[in-house]
Amino acid sequence: MRLTHLSLSNFRNFSRLDKDLPGGPILLVGGNAQGKTSLLEAVYYLAALESFHATQERQLINFLAWNEPIPVARIVADFEREDAPGKSVNPLAGPGFHRLEIRLYREGEDVNGGARLRKDILFDETKRKAHEVLGAFNAVLFLPQMTRVIEGSPEDRRRYLNLSLSQALPQYAPAISEYSRVMTQRNALLKQFAEKRTSASQVDQELSFWDEKLAAAGAAIIQARLQFVQELERMAARIYRDLTRGEVLRLVYQPSYDPTPLPEGQKMLRLDAPLRGNRISLDTIRQGFQECLLRLHSEEIFRGVTTVGPHRDELRFVSDGHDLGLFGSRGQVRTAILALKLAEIEWIKDKTGQRPVLLLDEVLAELDANRRADLLDRLVQSEQTLMTTTDLEQFSPEFIKQARVWHVQHEQITEQG
Ligand SMILES: Nc1ncnc2c1ncn2[C@@H]1O[C@H](COP(=O)(O)OP(=O)(O)OP(=O)(O)O)[C@@H](O)[C@H]1O
Ligand SMILES: [Mg+2]
Repeated sequence: MRLTHLSLSNFRNFSRLDKDLPGGPILLVGGNAQGKTSLLEAVYYLAALESFHATQERQLINFLAWNEPIPVARIVADFEREDAPGKSVNPLAGPGFHRLEIRLYREGEDVNGGARLRKDILFDETKRKAHEVLGAFNAVLFLPQMTRVIEGSPEDRRRYLNLSLSQALPQYAPAISEYSRVMTQRNALLKQFAEKRTSASQVDQELSFWDEKLAAAGAAIIQARLQFVQELERMAARIYRDLTRGEVLRLVYQPSYDPTPLPEGQKMLRLDAPLRGNRISLDTIRQGFQECLLRLHSEEIFRGVTTVGPHRDELRFVSDGHDLGLFGSRGQVRTAILALKLAEIEWIKDKTGQRPVLLLDEVLAELDANRRADLLDRLVQSEQTLMTTTDLEQFSPEFIKQARVWHVQHEQITEQG
């Protein structure tokens, strides 16, 4: 797949940008604070339909536009999808050209006096909901701060799983939103029961209604994650071995509700244990999860929250038997994330038949000369890659010859050569 045209208005520091994009590697070169990362952020928005780091998305709207009556930021993209018979794809996005437009409006005031944000998504000129459009445009993003996926909190890792899976599996995003809707209802009920004494039979009866729904959505999530981690590990381990010249990378999925219970007496999964649970049916997971919820009723009423399920899942990255989140060197962690991102490209290609657009922010920093060379070799073959740098010298002359070099300065782009 390929982005053919991008136009931005009032997005971050870009008041206005209109640009045709070629295939292959594009190098975005420029000093600090010129808008390189913002460009990648805009393109990634088309795939994730949310920003990768704005906790408050209204920050995406250009400061200068805040004084307008209705400040609005727009990202409009034309892209082309390849023909991919037999692959699981978003039903809106067949082969050929499509247009995706995001409009972010800053309007009114919320309870804290801040502005509210309204988001409109238009796919081929028709207004759509985010979950309908997810997966229509595919991109894989690498940011230096993504080492958080390995070193940060379990929530960072769950977000990573969700963003990756929802791009390629059309059923995943709806399962996530159903799961969180049901959990909110179920938690409210648990709190209610905690406040007024209710008979055990009434509790079981009322909670069971929500247990069933939670187990159905939860099982779909667990099954997708089990499979994803296993498939991704196979690809990432191979790439990591090549980049590090021999180190072993393992991805260990630790589901909070585990459909494959551990052997008697063993509390934690050993990090070198082989992968389990790849062939468990959806029905088995659903049933087991539902029974587990039932067993926990009185404990969960005491705690007032749902204590088990995909919202508590964990994923660990292990190299040569050590947890990289705890023991990895900077370079090791960065290399592991890179291997993961390169594996994601293959995985998305495998599922959807599309080679996703690759977005790499300052990717060569902190890599030694061998790792840089290996990485650039891989990138030359990419369908379309946008990569940023402050320093063109980091790239080999051979690579630069095969890439397009764009200078980003004062939110304008000029092409070299
Ligand atoms: N809503 C906004 N309106 C206007 N400017 C913004 C907005 N949000 C961020 N900026 C500014 O946009 C500029 C570009 O940021 P960006 O992160 O894209 O730079 P960069 O080229 O990647 O720089 P670096 O090399 O330091 O990573 C920064 O000066 C930032 O403060
Ligand atoms: Mg940057």
